[in-house]
Amino acid sequence: MCGIIGITSTKNVSASILNSLRKLEYRGYDSAGIATLESGIIKEVKCEGRVDALEKNLSKQKIDGNIGIGHVRWATHGVPSTINAHPHSSDKVSVVHNGIIENSTILKKLLIKKGYEFKSQTDTEVIVHLITDYLKKNNLKNSIIKMLNKVHGSFALGIIFQDQPDLIVGARRGSPLAVGYGPNENYLGSDSYALKSMTNKVTYLNDSEFCIVKKDGVEFFDEKGNKVNKKVLELSKNENQYEKGDYKHFMAKEIDEQPITIKNCVNEYINRISNSLNIYNFPWKDKDISSILLIGCGTAYHSCLMAKYWFEQMTTLDVNVDIASEFRYRKNRFKKDCLYIFVSQSGETADTYAALDLCNKNNVKTCSIVNVVESSIARDSKFVLPIHCGPEIGVASTKAFLGQMLVLYILCLKLAYARKDIDKKIFSFKVKSLLELSKNVKKTLLTEDQIQLVCKSFVDAKGSMFLGRGFSYPIALEGALKLKELAYVHAEGYPAGEMKHGPLALIEDGMPVVVLAPRDEYFKKTISNMQEVIARGAKVLLITNKNKDEVVHENIWQSIEVENINDDLLPFLITIPLQKLAYHSALNKGYDIDKPRNLAKSVTVE
Ligand code: AGP
Repeated sequence: MCGIIGITSTKNVSASILNSLRKLEYRGYDSAGIATLESGIIKEVKCEGRVDALEKNLSKQKIDGNIGIGHVRWATHGVPSTINAHPHSSDKVSVVHNGIIENSTILKKLLIKKGYEFKSQTDTEVIVHLITDYLKKNNLKNSIIKMLNKVHGSFALGIIFQDQPDLIVGARRGSPLAVGYGPNENYLGSDSYALKSMTNKVTYLNDSEFCIVKKDGVEFFDEKGNKVNKKVLELSKNENQYEKGDYKHFMAKEIDEQPITIKNCVNEYINRISNSLNIYNFPWKDKDISSILLIGCGTAYHSCLMAKYWFEQMTTLDVNVDIASEFRYRKNRFKKDCLYIFVSQSGETADTYAALDLCNKNNVKTCSIVNVVESSIARDSKFVLPIHCGPEIGVASTKAFLGQMLVLYILCLKLAYARKDIDKKIFSFKVKSLLELSKNVKKTLLTEDQIQLVCKSFVDAKGSMFLGRGFSYPIALEGALKLKELAYVHAEGYPAGEMKHGPLALIEDGMPVVVLAPRDEYFKKTISNMQEVIARGAKVLLITNKNKDEVVHENIWQSIEVENINDDLLPFLITIPLQKLAYHSALNKGYDIDKPRNLAKSVTVE
């Protein structure tokens, strides 16, 4: 996803902006650029590709100045190219932009009629010329207000001005933006991570707010230009969470961190002394909730699907799930007795945020499960349950997925027990099982060696299937997504029982098929589905749990046995080999594991 940085300082800012852009690389991008104000002239250096290319261009065309903006671009309007890279400038104004200006076509036509020339294919350039035009008859603040009233769509903006040697304007609508506070300098950034290398003191803009950042102070305004007072948050300083340590990739580190992140999350939510759950200030009475709708995107959606099975098994609640980008345009019937749960690692996914916004506009119960507690989705939910995973940098979500599932399971336990859908004995057994999860995840990481033996078959095949029933079906979808997004190969997650209704035609000799068949209530049926695909030539990688009595090995290519644990929690364990499979498949192909092509860590545009 695009990333913004702006710095106004008493010293030269080019190097600091470049360093901050490197901190934004995890968001996924295809071009980059920087602009400074040097002796009253706006100077730009841009590149297609990575920040390394920008650094190389900067060594050829050095630009100085105590004020500047930088950007990493994930192309939406206009192909990835140097000319389309941000910043975009006139001789009066330079702009960096995250998001989409939905009425850019009509605005571009109006501005061309006024004689403005466009250099790029981007929607962003209309902002440059709009402000330039307004500045002819308005002061800076009114020009910004007029521009904000003119453009439609979502954006976070950073703007510098040829005749303003020490200020940066930031504006936010639907795409996150933060201000950071430093010694004799201040900052603008897409998120706290972009600013972390310089400060842990930040303020987040809300939608429709804009700010004027100077090196010795910051002012915030609402869309009408009225001053707004904002809180300064102090974020945790632990930098090492943002480093790879001994690992080659963040993803490898984050997969192996899961025993710790699970343990931390369990410690946050479970009182080991009283064997109770620490979910405080839940704002609704149990009798006021009779249904649940779980909403998310991608991996977060898969954790919602998983939670549906748990809620159905343990409560009498009516539970549904929806993909956020579908929900936001559906003809929804909003219900006062429904709890709408939004799951998002970043807390900034545009579709999920839009779905939450729709629910807030309909004044219904909203709860979010996030990893970034200062995110937009968390800030605008009525109740927040953090997953306590620490920063997840790899674009492919791993530890956050297990964290999302864990918090959803804990919420499910809480509601089931409070509604008396499960008794004390069952509740206590399930809570105690959670205390075993971390060490079993740790043991399951040891299946990595076996996975390394099979990953080549998956990357060499023209496609693969991931099959599961019941609790294993959401994990089959997640395993397929991981392989797709990391190794760029076709992989399809499918309900095991559905193969005979069409996809069995895909099976041909030697096709790798992962069958998730832990020894739960769905085991026998899934094994018979497995035989169906073996009979047609599939190479089956069976993932099950240990059982010395009943070994299933006939005609199976490979099998991996995870540890035994309460059936509810087997989905956590069978996920681990699939994360490792995707990782080693991508490693085998030599792909960029932490920043897969075309993808972004947080999709803040729809
Ligand atoms: C998962 O590996 C992907 N990176 C992607 O599907 C991600 O889960 C999705 O974009 C949702 O992101 P969020 O959890 O930050 O909302």
